[in-house]
Amino acid sequence: MKSPLIKMALPGPRARKFIKLDKTFVSPSYTRIYPLVVEKADGLWVYDVDGNRFLDFTAGIAVNATGHCHPDVVKAIKDQADKLLHMSGTDFYYTPQIKLAEKLASLAPGNGGKRVYFGNSGAEAVEAAFKLARWHTQRELNVAFFGAFHGRTMGALSLTASKTVQKKHYNPFVPGITHIPYAYCYRCAYNLCYPDCGLFCVHWVEDTLFRTTMPPEEVAAIFVEPIQGEGGYIVPPPDFHKELQKIARKYGILYVADEVQSGMGRTGKMFAMEHFGVDADIMALAKGIASGLPLGAMVARADIMNWEAGSHASTFGGNPLSCQAAMATIALLEKNLMKNAVKQGERLMNGLRTLQKTYECLGDVRGKGLMIGVELVKDRETKAPAADWRGHIIRKAFKKGLLILGCGENSVRFCPALTVSAAEIDECLTIFEEAVKEVAG
Ligand SMILES: Cc1ncc(COP(=O)(O)O)c(C=O)c1O
Repeated sequence: MKSPLIKMALPGPRARKFIKLDKTFVSPSYTRIYPLVVEKADGLWVYDVDGNRFLDFTAGIAVNATGHCHPDVVKAIKDQADKLLHMSGTDFYYTPQIKLAEKLASLAPGNGGKRVYFGNSGAEAVEAAFKLARWHTQRELNVAFFGAFHGRTMGALSLTASKTVQKKHYNPFVPGITHIPYAYCYRCAYNLCYPDCGLFCVHWVEDTLFRTTMPPEEVAAIFVEPIQGEGGYIVPPPDFHKELQKIARKYGILYVADEVQSGMGRTGKMFAMEHFGVDADIMALAKGIASGLPLGAMVARADIMNWEAGSHASTFGGNPLSCQAAMATIALLEKNLMKNAVKQGERLMNGLRTLQKTYECLGDVRGKGLMIGVELVKDRETKAPAADWRGHIIRKAFKKGLLILGCGENSVRFCPALTVSAAEIDECLTIFEEAVKEVAG
């Protein structure tokens, strides 16, 4: 198997040149934690403009589900490019969009018909869900969670409660949204322990929130990530979603699952909510859905998606190339990639849990399938967050040829392509351990 190949001190000369240009011409709002300038990539391997080779455990922020440039996906895109690049599903029909809608509707958990709205990104899928929930229920209030990331357009950003830098200077937001604590058991907001807590955080919604400040009959939807992504790869207890959805159903409140990061096979099931036995009323999809082509989808129960012609649309949403890339992606996921996500996810999880026995700073190791986070702490007892060590570890790993990213305040996320091999998992573990040892060992 290949291994990382770092031929020079990073960034190399060509990378330095491009970064200088970027600093002049590209928006300074992007957050680059290390100076990687990508030239090309295949599978799990990324090559920079100086010919260095990196093992990619970021998958372009959990996007390249089938690995970089999977031949089936590239062929689907090329074949479609020869036929039709764009026509706009807003005003016209074309077969790739219709076929993908049929496929997604058949995959979505739960009985009854489903319908699909297409956009270009996760934020657009969430934005569509937000609007549909209002349209359908004719209610104005919504519930979302601290730590949640739903995107950066104004509606999605209003639901987001991840980092203040994402919200600074953008007030006022869409009104009527109340954020509540997520089931982050490693740092419970109520200082309780699962399962003795009896899911206090869920019951608090009905017993306190709905009795004091939020009349439940005015609440349109609860927006929730099955597993919090940007917030730190936080897996809630197994009965969290089911119990919360019960409360939602009691009051006619829609349960909206933001599967943008957790969906499309990443956790070993097509949608992460399947781990929790919950079929959401509305689901937002993006990221891994088209292996890197821009696509967002909002899937809803057919009886809920009853808005009228003209109430929502997007010129580019459901572009034919993206739809064909999504069909090829789903075929690969169904063939063997979801199975591989379970298998290799277990290998990665076991490897990280073994490292946790040696390195005190690895406070919590959690996740499902290939959505795995490691929370770094200064001390296991106090759980003091080690955000600085997290940054150092990620940069050290980069210099050694491993690409990883952070999430939350002090966690590292591992979200490789679902094509990852056992040897690539082991290589990642070796480099990660070296980086941890050098920074905090
Ligand atoms: C759960 C979740 N929802 C929505 C988004 C926004 O997606 P996009 O960046 O494609 O707009 C993200 C992006 O990280 C996400 O993780």
